[in-house]
Amino acid sequence: MTGPLDVGVIGTGWCGGIRALASARSALVDGLHLAEIDPARLAEVAEATGARTATADWERLVADDRISAIMISATPETLHHPMARAALAAGKHVLLEKPMALTLEEADELIGLAEAGGLKFTIGYSQRFNAKQALIRRAIDDGTLGTVTSILISRHITRSLGAKISSRTRLSPAAMEATHDLDFAFWCLGPRRPVRVYSQNAWGVRRATHGSPDTQYLLVTMDDGAVVTVGAGMSLPPGYPNQSTTWMEVLGTDGAVLADASHRDIVLNTVSDGVRFPLSTMPGEYVGATYAGPMERETTHFLEAVAHDRPVMVDPRLARTTMEVYLAADLSAERGEAVGLPLSAEAYEAALKVGRA
Ligand SMILES: NC(=O)c1ccc[n+]([C@@H]2O[C@H](COP(=O)([O-])OP(=O)(O)OC[C@H]3O[C@@H](n4cnc5c(N)ncnc54)[C@H](O)[C@@H]3O)[C@@H](O)[C@H]2O)c1
Repeated sequence: MTGPLDVGVIGTGWCGGIRALASARSALVDGLHLAEIDPARLAEVAEATGARTATADWERLVADDRISAIMISATPETLHHPMARAALAAGKHVLLEKPMALTLEEADELIGLAEAGGLKFTIGYSQRFNAKQALIRRAIDDGTLGTVTSILISRHITRSLGAKISSRTRLSPAAMEATHDLDFAFWCLGPRRPVRVYSQNAWGVRRATHGSPDTQYLLVTMDDGAVVTVGAGMSLPPGYPNQSTTWMEVLGTDGAVLADASHRDIVLNTVSDGVRFPLSTMPGEYVGATYAGPMERETTHFLEAVAHDRPVMVDPRLARTTMEVYLAADLSAERGEAVGLPLSAEAYEAALKVGRA
């Protein structure tokens, strides 16, 4: 094992704050280094974690020879590729929040840099680290379900969280939300490959506020005919549930798993706020000394991969495939027709234009 690590977190907002706390609590970490442009948030997280260094300049972390691994959690999403490129080029192992980049060329560049440098490079697909997804994956791996023929995942987040996301990026619900469930489905179904996607947008309250659909639906066909259906909604009214509600159906030739991740199993009802469904954020949250949710475990998995030289669970090549599918989905929704995969050169250029429109 490599000795206790010095690690960096760039962007210590919601997710970066969790990554920083999880790192500070890990016995694998000796020194934590933070970069954040919001001075108040930097001071808050530095104090909470006992950070060794704290700066507004992320390039200082990249240039720091003590630091072997960097987690990149900054927004807007246009920052992901340049920050990851610089960190990988400087020989750091990298955990990068999704989306890994905005174009396939950028994704290829990052994968190439990591491979050339023999570095761990992984994408923050935190939902893989939920207990329910883990059980589904096991039921597929150990043959319990037989051959999986279809996966359906419907996910909705609150409109306040949808507003936070859509006010900083034009990326679609497919790119920002369905991406988690596409990643999970393709991971479960591998080595099968997606060959076609049909997508439709449902327009509602978010058209006027963000020029973005309320919900995007995707129907993906795999090369053996298996079907993946993903719904990604961003318009739930506040409080019901707190942030995220998900329903999963995985059907195989020998069995099925139906998983309710709607978080309706705990109700908090107060005079001031009425009914709330706690513990329903996608990354999870600290509850006293306990962590409820997937992001702390995902962070620890990355630190363990670096410290013990083990493989990372999320292969960035699959994240690239997922990116190609959601780009194709955006084009499909625009054209009103199915789009074949891999994308032709013409379709890829058109899909990038849809994303920028
Ligand atoms: N896996 C999950 O469950 C999950 C959930 C939410 C968000 N995300 C992803 O994580 C990323 C972060 O989301 P968030 O909700 O934590 O965002 P956030 O806006 O709460 O935090 C981002 C932080 O980056 C900081 N920042 C901006 N520019 C910077 C710079 N140049 N240097 C250093 N810091 C900088 C901002 O000040 C902010 O504090 C997003 O890209 C999102 O896609 C993942």
